[in-house]
Amino acid sequence: MIVCSCNVITDHDVRNAVSGADDVVRHAKQIYGCLGCSAECGRCARTIKTIIDEALGSCARACQAGCPHNLTAANDEVHDHIRDDFGLAAS
Ligand code: FES
Repeated sequence: MIVCSCNVITDHDVRNAVSGADDVVRHAKQIYGCLGCSAECGRCARTIKTIIDEALGSCARACQAGCPHNLTAANDEVHDHIRDDFGLAAS
């Protein structure tokens, strides 16, 4: 389904950009960049953001720890740094 009529971007294009990106994609602007275009009218930004969030959710469940798309692993790493910095014990 085409989600961006200005750039003719489909929902599959968005999912492929999310799964193929080296960095974690969180914003529609990053999708435009990945696909070599830019926002025109901006009406699609909310839909693209929803697809990104859905794609990251399924990836995070499927990915192994250490994958940049694994939000749980990334959050655990941040929490470890906070615990180390403040001398807190793990819960
Ligand atoms: S519909 Fe995507 S920029 Fe216009």
